[in-house]
Amino acid sequence: MARVTVDRSRIAVIAHRGASEDAPEHSLAAYRRAIEDGADGLECDVRLTADGHLVCVHDRRVNRTSNGRGAVSALELAELAELDFAAGRPLSGADPAAGPEAPDTVDPERSAVLTLERLLRLVAEADRPVDLAIETKHPTRWAGQVEERLLALLARHPVPGQVRVMSFSARSLQRVHRAAPQLPTVFLMHFALPRHRGGRLPAGVAVAGPSVRMLRRDPGYVARARAAGHPVHVWTVDRPQDVELCVELGVDAIITNRPRTVRAQLADR
Ligand code: G3P
Ligand code: CA
Repeated sequence: MARVTVDRSRIAVIAHRGASEDAPEHSLAAYRRAIEDGADGLECDVRLTADGHLVCVHDRRVNRTSNGRGAVSALELAELAELDFAAGRPLSGADPAAGPEAPDTVDPERSAVLTLERLLRLVAEADRPVDLAIETKHPTRWAGQVEERLLALLARHPVPGQVRVMSFSARSLQRVHRAAPQLPTVFLMHFALPRHRGGRLPAGVAVAGPSVRMLRRDPGYVARARAAGHPVHVWTVDRPQDVELCVELGVDAIITNRPRTVRAQLADR
């Protein structure tokens, strides 16, 4: 199992798709803002374009987050670069009653598709080490190409903070672990550890990544995972009462759309 740096004196705050409450998700602006807001790390989702580039896009299609249509995997990077990713759509899972984000001015830092390579450069240029938690999305369709390209990019663009690879797919994490055993991996869980896993994370996985919903239902999971040697990184924690729950349970990292607010709540305790 790869060693994970854990500072027990404080809970790490990881910005989910950047400071995505304040700027379009996965935009350069959202990540810059997260760094300014004091995030310890940045979370991003990666998908492969038709011409083999890794871009930071959450959904299979670009319909929700841009003014375009179609699957990321069917579009080339040059086609994605033509789209406006600050098209004023709400974050997935956000309360529709809250209304759409105000229309954006044309600012490429907010509207341009972000490649993983550009994000790595941003992190390398930061004035302090910032961790990066990279989630592979539906990688099973690509027979290892996502992981292969991801590891090649990381080798070409080293960053001073810790990089972790996250996934809901055990197969994806096992591919990463086989090729780069020194790289910590995070197994993401929606509701529970899959029954067939018998209470254990997939072999080689360093970190447990439960949703906060899972912890509301099964708060004892944090102690069990930590007793088995796994730090616990929880997503997506935006509500003050959920931050409080995470503190009480002794989690190691909180993944949130609101890094500034969560950092302030943690500082006030
Ligand atoms: O950080 C893990 C979390 O991002 C997983 O859910 O759908 O936001 O990628 P999702
Ligand atoms: Ca994600």
